[in-house]
Amino acid sequence: MDSNKRPDTMERIQTKEQADKFIAEQVEEVRAQVGERQVLLALSGGVDSSVVAALLIKAIGKQLVCVHVNHGLMRKGESEAVIEVFKNQLDANLIYVDATDRFLSKLEGVADPEKKRKIIGGEFIVVFDEEAAKLEGIDFLAQGTIYPDILESIKAAESGKPVKSHHNVGGLPEDMKMELVEPIKLLYKDEVRVVGKALGLPAEMVDRQPFPGPGLGVRCLGAITRDRLEALREADAILREEFDKNGLATKVWQYFIAIPDVKSVGVKDEKRYEGWPAIIRAVNTTDAMSATIEEIPYALLHHITNRITHEVNGINRVLYDLTPKPIGTIEWE
Ligand code: XMP
Repeated sequence: MDSNKRPDTMERIQTKEQADKFIAEQVEEVRAQVGERQVLLALSGGVDSSVVAALLIKAIGKQLVCVHVNHGLMRKGESEAVIEVFKNQLDANLIYVDATDRFLSKLEGVADPEKKRKIIGGEFIVVFDEEAAKLEGIDFLAQGTIYPDILESIKAAESGKPVKSHHNVGGLPEDMKMELVEPIKLLYKDEVRVVGKALGLPAEMVDRQPFPGPGLGVRCLGAITRDRLEALREADAILREEFDKNGLATKVWQYFIAIPDVKSVGVKDEKRYEGWPAIIRAVNTTDAMSATIEEIPYALLHHITNRITHEVNGINRVLYDLTPKPIGTIEWE
């Protein structure tokens, strides 16, 4: 039987009982696969890797070593949340690597989106390998592969080129000696969330909107600078807070800020004030292949504009992107 094919008889996991049953089966399977040996996991804090981490902690406890690489392109508070949930609450064996300086210096002056993606993806593997090399006796690599990843890579292989190189799919070194542990590879995203909740992960982590592997790197458009990246992180945090407060966080599939490498003239405290525009993107989609624009109430847009322009250093305008996909992609890069 092809272990990468979801059996037609597999029921869809929608309830806590179904999730508990799945978890119990996976715990047994992982224990049988791994025995007394150790497993390594790159824990980004995204839904999939978080659910795999929680599942493996349940199955093998401290035999799981999680490595969280902060590439400096995380959203506000994200790395802190990973540490809080996994280290403090779940008592995981967690190695935290702050690689911000390494990533940002590699990215300095690089404006081409595909080059940026390759640098971020490549550097990620280098940092992760360095950490893995410091550890001894690791025989397994766990991955948060889910069923759409498998379907997408089959489709991409059959049809030629994808539109953008998604850096966390198919980037494994060919000479990798570790065996893979992929306990959620036959699940769809909605099922992963049900399993995550059954494992006791917080709703903010499990219901989190999708976030690209290269993180804010593809939203700080063109060549990344620390000041513009910081403005982006702050503006994005305000947008998320306001969407949360106003019931849009659960209604809109993906929403974020992008900041181009452009300044315009503004006025503040009766003085000339040059700043960047913050672009709001808020889209709905089912499969990310096409997307429509979510209608945000004007009053809320005014409020967000007011907050961002007053609270974030360096931003003097806020724009609202009305472009569907196609013709725009969801991300700007
Ligand atoms: P686009 O911009 O292609 O995005 O319409 C479709 C979805 O994919 C996400 N995305 C990425 N995810 N690595 C990822 O893991 C990437 O390099 C990447 N680029 C885009 C994007 O956020 C959206 O959800």
